[in-house]
Amino acid sequence: MYREKSDLSGRAAFITGGGRGIGLCTAEALLEHGARVVISDRDPAVLEAGRAELAEKGWEIDAVTLDVTDSKAVARAAADANERHGGIDILIANAGIAWPDTPGESMTDEVWHKVVDVDLNGCYWSCREFGRAMLERGRGSIVTVGSMSGLISNKPQRQVHYNAAKAGVHHMTRSLAGEWAPRGVRVNSVAPTYVDTAMSRGGFTDDALMPTWMASTPMNRPARADEIASAILFLATDASSAMTGSIVTVDCGYTIW
Ligand SMILES: NC(=O)c1ccc[n+]([C@@H]2O[C@H](COP(=O)([O-])OP(=O)(O)OC[C@H]3O[C@@H](n4cnc5c(N)ncnc54)[C@H](O)[C@@H]3O)[C@@H](O)[C@H]2O)c1
Repeated sequence: MYREKSDLSGRAAFITGGGRGIGLCTAEALLEHGARVVISDRDPAVLEAGRAELAEKGWEIDAVTLDVTDSKAVARAAADANERHGGIDILIANAGIAWPDTPGESMTDEVWHKVVDVDLNGCYWSCREFGRAMLERGRGSIVTVGSMSGLISNKPQRQVHYNAAKAGVHHMTRSLAGEWAPRGVRVNSVAPTYVDTAMSRGGFTDDALMPTWMASTPMNRPARADEIASAILFLATDASSAMTGSIVTVDCGYTIW
């Protein structure tokens, strides 16, 4: 019974920002559990590299270019994917950007909007468009990718835009979860700590920053992208069937302190 709960055979998943990093690892995790997977990404070169990496490992996937800040494009992508795959059962709303170290008192409107547009608005457009079709079918599982930055304020970097957007993702997740639970659609979020991906590589290669980050991390290490993907996988499958509105921290203990 427990194996069956994790089996995604016959289900279709759509991942935003899936060309690399946590999104690409999640694609592999879902594929290994039997799902059909569509990866999407704003950057066609990143998307193609991600598709080729999975193809080399023997996985066949669908890949579509999609910028999540364009709500009309998200609506079209959701309609297409639902049509092509006979209904999308799982959405991983993962696309995100971070803009390091921008002091709160001098951030421009442009920088604020850019981060909030991708990290919060894009996540909501994705949930809304894929969620609507799930509600029509009476089932689905959505996993948003938030951040521990939505729960704590990172130090020493100054990133009020990112922190606020990710807190928004968490509360949006809980709000949608409450609305959609009676109609068969679960919505949960994963809140990762630092992970060595393209997004945070600047910090990983900064001799001053890493020791500060690790001094605040009980396990004294960052998480790997596959460790985040494992939590996303769990929330996507029926193994988490009693969970909705949960914000699951995968943070090597960072938020304990
Ligand atoms: N890496 C970390 O330390 C860390 C920590 C906490 C949370 N996260 C979150 O994890 C998620 C994945 O990040 P990652 O670490 O894998 O970074 P990444 O940069 O490797 O991957 C993000 C992907 O999103 C894509 N993307 C960016 N803007 C987009 C847009 N407008 N539309 C569609 N795709 C877009 C990028 O092209 C990229 O492929 C993000 O939401 C991020 O905020 C990351």
